[in-house]
Amino acid sequence: MNIQEIRSWLAETDPDRLEELWDRADRVRRETMGDRVFLRGILEISNKCSRDCHYCGLRAGNSRLARYTMTEEDILDGAILARQLGLGTVVLQAGEHPGLDARWIAGIVRRIKDEAGLVVTLSLGERNIDELELWKRAGADRYLLKFETSNPALFKHIHPGSQTTGHTRIELLKQLHLLDYEVGSGFMIGIPGQTYDDAANDLLLLKRLDVHMIGNGPFIANPDTPLGNTPRGQVPNTELMTYKIMALTRILCPGSNIPSTTALGTVNTQCGLELGLQRGGNVLMPNLTPAKYKKLYAIYPTPLRDITDAAQLVAAVKERILCIGRTIGTGPGVSRSFMQQRQHHNEVPHD
Ligand code: 5AD
Repeated sequence: MNIQEIRSWLAETDPDRLEELWDRADRVRRETMGDRVFLRGILEISNKCSRDCHYCGLRAGNSRLARYTMTEEDILDGAILARQLGLGTVVLQAGEHPGLDARWIAGIVRRIKDEAGLVVTLSLGERNIDELELWKRAGADRYLLKFETSNPALFKHIHPGSQTTGHTRIELLKQLHLLDYEVGSGFMIGIPGQTYDDAANDLLLLKRLDVHMIGNGPFIANPDTPLGNTPRGQVPNTELMTYKIMALTRILCPGSNIPSTTALGTVNTQCGLELGLQRGGNVLMPNLTPAKYKKLYAIYPTPLRDITDAAQLVAAVKERILCIGRTIGTGPGVSRSFMQQRQHHNEVPHD
């Protein structure tokens, strides 16, 4: 699919044509990934952040937010709970903060591998190569780093303090590949300033970077940030646009794991997650962060959630998957694209 075709799908409004897009994405998903939906347990281990990203409620400049870092034991308990609930992967997510000591994280990764036997995904922002390497050696399997937008000028505008040349995160994503991580990325849909061309380029960049996990979620305005007002024009941050992007992502990157994101589940609490799974998605990420911390991980405003018990939450998520005729994935749920990359590397003779 070329950039013109992508752009015309992004602008499509005809319901019959859109049905064709959903059907095509669902068919590609079924043929490449099957019917299983994999679950990843998220632990939001710290909301401290030294960056000032214009869209995010965790930004350092937001003094309205009380800050926390979970204790090592809380994190281990969360991982063991994930294991007990039958999840194959735990995702440790935090703001970007040098106070989150790299050796401390490495020790936790090692303990999770030893004591819970889970696949470990880290999502701790832009860290240096030595740290990423240390964590890989400690046993981390995957790293999530969203590039948010492929447009370098827009990236710099919404990420004050980023380096003046190039695109920091795109460079880091390439390094993560070289370190043999299974690599996750994605962008925000409808971030103010994002044009249709930008969104089409965002999709093509995912393909070019050969990203193994792709979480593209709608931008949700947070009143405690500089981008707190409803965005004007350009790519709309709507539910419909999110489905179009999910479907196009599946068609462009057939072997990647694609979650229905929490942000999509926030925009449509009734059936957003299900529709995402029917339009390209094959992963859900239930949030296992203890309730006392979860309310402080306030990236954007979320409706009050009634289910706080992790076991009940996972049971409800599984029910939602079964209700749309899909099955529950067990084990690590490695992406097809990562397995193919591995095979390819092994076939290349080493000297
Ligand atoms: N709306 C939607 N998504 C957001 N994120 C951060 N702020 C917002 C927002 N206001 C997403 C970004 C980030 C991830 C942790 O959450 O993609 O990488």
